[in-house]
Amino acid sequence: MKNVFKSQLCLLRQKMSLSQDALAQKLYVSRQSVSKWEHGDAEPDIDKLISLAEILAVDLNFLLSGQQSNEELIIRLQNISKKFKKTVLKDINLSVYGRDRIALLGANGSGKTTIINTIVGLVKPDGGRVRRFFNSSDDLSVMSQENVLIESLKVREHVMLSAQIQRQYSPIFVTEMIKKFNLNEQAQVIISQLSGGQRRRLALLISLLKPSKLLILDEPTVGMDLESIDFFWHYLDHVGGSVITITHDFNQIDKYFTRVILLKNGVIDKDVSVAAIHANNQTIEQWYRISNQEVG
Ligand SMILES: Nc1ncnc2c1ncn2[C@@H]1O[C@H](COP(=O)(O)OP(=O)(O)OP(=O)(O)O)[C@@H](O)[C@H]1O
Ligand SMILES: [Mg+2]
Repeated sequence: MKNVFKSQLCLLRQKMSLSQDALAQKLYVSRQSVSKWEHGDAEPDIDKLISLAEILAVDLNFLLSGQQSNEELIIRLQNISKKFKKTVLKDINLSVYGRDRIALLGANGSGKTTIINTIVGLVKPDGGRVRRFFNSSDDLSVMSQENVLIESLKVREHVMLSAQIQRQYSPIFVTEMIKKFNLNEQAQVIISQLSGGQRRRLALLISLLKPSKLLILDEPTVGMDLESIDFFWHYLDHVGGSVITITHDFNQIDKYFTRVILLKNGVIDKDVSVAAIHANNQTIEQWYRISNQEVG
């Protein structure tokens, strides 16, 4: 593999309008170090290389060899349109890749849930094409905006049933998950008697029982207490596969996501890497407030 690191670094840095100084600050190194790397006089250690790939929002391989790794395409939406009483989605084009962690943003009623339901297959688009490159029954996990739970079951019964359906059943695993999601005290409680936050945690637990290629979460933390929210984001950080999440937890988006998509007036108004926004010295919340105000 040809090492083209120095030219790649220079190119990518300029593409993101990052000065050597700005990049150096992000990496906690001197500007001279960045300059040496770009002249080929020195190379960063592996930790710095990984940080660089993150900051520049590229694969490590791409940074070193200049070749795009064949990132696995998970789903492609092509020219999707959907009208209920009024047009909700106009011309949606979206490709999701293997390790994307996408935060889907937009005002209430902008069509976020409709996009997700289109991906899942619950909404049939009026026009366009959905191409799924995974097996919907094995590789897709969804936590919908409304909890879909069987009210008459007890918590443990429900988790066991869901684990069996998803072929993940083992009593020890079920017990562990119930403990992890802080539902141990409620294990024998009938679901209709749970509080809103407990129901949300249960729905989340169920959606995370099996590893999947695509995990979709529609406002997962709504109604949860702070401790549960912290636990959730920490847990999400260890989930493999790609993730599409609708959330308004802006400070979490800064930490856990790689890509933000802003939906406005029925179209994807912005589709940007989180690293690019940070490189512009903005938090996602600042970026969102500005972007969502702009005339679409
Ligand atoms: N099944 C449906 N029948 C009729 N109208 C619908 C249906 N589903 C969604 N809509 C309408 O489509 C628009 C987009 O709804 P959607 O639920 O996708 O928005 P959202 O971005 O998820 O909003 P929120 O942030 O409030 O969850 C809304 O105006 C909504 O009323
Ligand atoms: Mg919604």
